[in-house]
Amino acid sequence: MSRRPIIAGNWKMHKTIAEAVDFARNLKPALAGVRGRVEVAVCPAFTALAGVAEVLQDTEIAVGAQDVHWEESGAFTGEVSPAMLKDAGCRYVIAGHSERRQLFGETSGNVNRKVKAVLSHGLIPVMCVGETLAEREAGITEEVVRTQTGAGLDGLAPEQVAAMVIAYEPVWAIGTGRNASEEDAQQVTGYIRGLVREWYGNTAAERLRIQYGGSVKPENAAGLMAMPDIDGALVGGASLKVASFVEIIKASVLS
Ligand code: 13P
Repeated sequence: MSRRPIIAGNWKMHKTIAEAVDFARNLKPALAGVRGRVEVAVCPAFTALAGVAEVLQDTEIAVGAQDVHWEESGAFTGEVSPAMLKDAGCRYVIAGHSERRQLFGETSGNVNRKVKAVLSHGLIPVMCVGETLAEREAGITEEVVRTQTGAGLDGLAPEQVAAMVIAYEPVWAIGTGRNASEEDAQQVTGYIRGLVREWYGNTAAERLRIQYGGSVKPENAAGLMAMPDIDGALVGGASLKVASFVEIIKASVLS
């Protein structure tokens, strides 16, 4: 079964509304003729979501949010609901990014609540998992990834898992310039697909898209994207400039 790869830019806490809208305007012509075989998404900060979505509404380029709260509405100061993200024009929602887990106390239980809430609104979760350097050095990468994946997907139906995106992002590769080797990234993404096959069946495992994230650059994108279980990339730093983001997208189409 062929999976359409997805290259998504996670802009993290970067770009004003004007900068984000400008990026979106420039991305459109830069991708003319490239799209089709690969899906492209950008994930701006909450403040820029609606503006970017408006610029991209007549294109195939999707918009994603970087986080979400699982409740519908209510007294949750500072939080944004799935319905609000949908209203702002989102198609994707990142859940459980390692920065949320490490810096803001995100638990796998909460990631699971977010994934369920996102799916129930017809949005697509991009659920992030990945080990720290200490965990890799201790030889417990698979154990960590198994625990995070199992907890995050807990209680979902196979069709829901099939529709999702999981991003394997080793924490030691994020923002360090040190990407996982093609072999290491394939080993873990293949392991994740195997877990999904074991828990949710063959169809879910074959349809689920698994991205790699962590220091993806124009120079390493093609090799990583050529791996059989890597179906795209979640790109941080290199997604902030149109030129490098487009180079990564082009490299993935060629791979
Ligand atoms: P970098 O591409 O900057 O390493 O960030 C990866 C990431 O965290 C994407 O979510």
